[in-house]
Amino acid sequence: MTIIHYQNLDVELKIGETLLDGLLRNGFDVPCGCKAGKCQSCLVSVKSTNDSLKSSQYGVNDTQKSLGYVLSCQFKPLSNTTITPVSANGKQIEAIVIDKVFLNDNVVRIRLKAPFEYITGQYVTLYKNAQIARSYSIVSHPIYHDFIELHIRILKNGVFSQWIKNDVWVGHKIGVQGPMGDCVYKKENRDMLLIATGTGIAPIYGIVQDAIINGHKKDIQIVYAAMRYKDLYLAKDLQVLLKKYSNIKLHLITQYSSGIGACKQDVYQYVQEKIKNLSEKNVYVCGVDSFVKKMKKKLISNGLNLANLSYESFLSFEPTDEGKKPDVK
Ligand SMILES: Cc1cc2nc3c(=O)[nH]c(=O)nc-3n(C[C@H](O)[C@H](O)[C@H](O)COP(=O)(O)OP(=O)(O)OC[C@H]3O[C@@H](n4cnc5c(N)ncnc54)[C@H](O)[C@@H]3O)c2cc1C
Ligand code: FES
Repeated sequence: MTIIHYQNLDVELKIGETLLDGLLRNGFDVPCGCKAGKCQSCLVSVKSTNDSLKSSQYGVNDTQKSLGYVLSCQFKPLSNTTITPVSANGKQIEAIVIDKVFLNDNVVRIRLKAPFEYITGQYVTLYKNAQIARSYSIVSHPIYHDFIELHIRILKNGVFSQWIKNDVWVGHKIGVQGPMGDCVYKKENRDMLLIATGTGIAPIYGIVQDAIINGHKKDIQIVYAAMRYKDLYLAKDLQVLLKKYSNIKLHLITQYSSGIGACKQDVYQYVQEKIKNLSEKNVYVCGVDSFVKKMKKKLISNGLNLANLSYESFLSFEPTDEGKKPDVK
């Protein structure tokens, strides 16, 4: 039996239970977002334990490590452990919403003024309140913009995205944590293939901008897929890039409805049939977790070396079933 000492109380963990699940089960208000070790909202500080912390400190910086910070969703203590909460100002900074625009009927663009440095394609974690946090990829580029731009897909029952849609306006202050992640442009003289579904196009668009700024000369192929043609909300912006840069090629793919310049086909099949010489490319894949997992498998079985793959999985609490229609708006 493992006992956790937290805020002057003892909590008994079930066998194999994570620290986060144990705390939530016992009614503690611990911040949490992805439960997958990505958003870092669930950080707690370990004051004493006989366990190694290493495997639950992925992405935690050196200062935080020296303070015993662990991702509680990844930590399964085997010995009695004492922990303390990490205060909001130990990990978040305050950002102000300076712009909010609907890019189509289910994607909202927000721009935040926040004093931190980032690389386009990384992500930040935003806080609705002390408990609810969600991560979003950065589209803007620090050379062009003095704000952080995020594209947020509105889900019908989405706790966070509905709040952004209905209650967040210009002037609103939001707690932000980050930046995190390494799905960013690699400065290598190789062809690039970038594949996205839904708002996965947000970091992909940012990475393409970074490649352009860095004067990337080799081919850049973008495969942008969605359920319906109207969901391809960044297609026009990408088409503008096509006209300016001869090394960029765009493939628009839809599953259910067709439109100008788009091919109605299964995206996995399309990539398998149309994209050649994978071993010579740096590949980027972004979107919901089920899509990223399946696309990774396909690409690797078609000759892609894992070392040349960068990806961002939009993990959520309950990942969507493969092929299930999204519950949008
Ligand atoms: C590293 C990272 C980067 C991310 N970047 C982005 C981004 O740039 N833009 C963006 O829109 N999202 C992004 N996400 C996803 C985002 O963090 C949230 O998971 C998402 O916005 C849903 O939050 P919510 O509170 O609105 O929905 P929740 O209340 O968490 O979920 C409501 C319901 O919708 C389901 N659900 C969750 N996500 C999806 C989905 N994509 N499609 C269909 N059903 C879903 C859930 O399983 C649940 O049943 C990213 C996630 C991670 C981990
Ligand atoms: S990292 Fe633990 S909830 Fe996201």
